[in-house]
Amino acid sequence: MTVDGTALVTGASAGIGRALAAEFAANGHDVVLVARRETELLALANRLEDDHGIRAYAIDADLASVDAAAKLYEATAERDVQVDVLVNNVGIGTQGAFVENDLGRELDQLQLNVVTPTQLTHRYGREMAARGRGGVLNVASTAAWLPGPFMSVYYASKAYLKSFSEGIAAELREEDVDVTALCPGPVDTEFQARAGNEDTPLGSGEMQDARAVARAGYEGLQAGETVVVTGLRYRLLTRLSNVLPNRLTRRLAARLNTPD
Ligand SMILES: NC(=O)c1ccc[n+]([C@@H]2O[C@H](COP(=O)([O-])OP(=O)(O)OC[C@H]3O[C@@H](n4cnc5c(N)ncnc54)[C@H](OP(=O)(O)O)[C@@H]3O)[C@@H](O)[C@H]2O)c1
Repeated sequence: MTVDGTALVTGASAGIGRALAAEFAANGHDVVLVARRETELLALANRLEDDHGIRAYAIDADLASVDAAAKLYEATAERDVQVDVLVNNVGIGTQGAFVENDLGRELDQLQLNVVTPTQLTHRYGREMAARGRGGVLNVASTAAWLPGPFMSVYYASKAYLKSFSEGIAAELREEDVDVTALCPGPVDTEFQARAGNEDTPLGSGEMQDARAVARAGYEGLQAGETVVVTGLRYRLLTRLSNVLPNRLTRRLAARLNTPD
């Protein structure tokens, strides 16, 4: 069944989130754009309304706090917006040895990558289930397939998001709510600069294009696919990491996440 209606996209001011918002708008969905940078959100909202004749709402919010999901839910209710598709795109990475990294930043990462998406899915997903229609698109990563020394919290957070998506996809199938985990390899966005991994093999290697990733995610959700891995190379690598011994994949990831 196709998923229609208003799509709320977190982390919509840049990168994959901005591309996802554009993809939904180009396909006729109204969109709710959420991130901290209000100027970027308003500019994007105006452009999407002009280009596609849809309605775009901009909500500036810091999603790294435990009450962020509740506040965002209230903000959509105040605007009388029904969220038909939830796109949990927001996420950050942190490069470095866990015990040497700033713990506050690691916990922000867990809130953004794990807790806020879980809270938003509980609120909006429950309404979708009651209506008997809707969709949830969670932006995970190919990092979900292996442990990632020197980005340990990031890889673990993406493993959670992929597993969570697969679990609730099976639970919500009866209610006609589709859930998709979008799993790209490295994508050319602001992510690397924020994560501080620009000088690692992973952060400086070949990158996927955010628009192509967004299109694959949109099409995967509409096709009812539960897990979408973007790019042939990463489809092969994820299959390979299922069969390689864990000590080998750990060693490989450590090398990819260590500055040259
Ligand atoms: N790029 C990659 O290589 C890659 C690969 C696989 C998966 N992913 C995943 O794709 C998703 C999007 O990443 P991206 O590459 O597009 O990163 P990005 O270019 O850095 O964009 C991140 C977005 O999240 C928003 N954001 C960050 N912190 C926030 C906060 N505290 N509160 C609200 N919004 C916040 C940013 O906007 P503001 O700064 O305006 O708040 C921005 O819109 C993430 O979940 C990431 O893990 C990325």
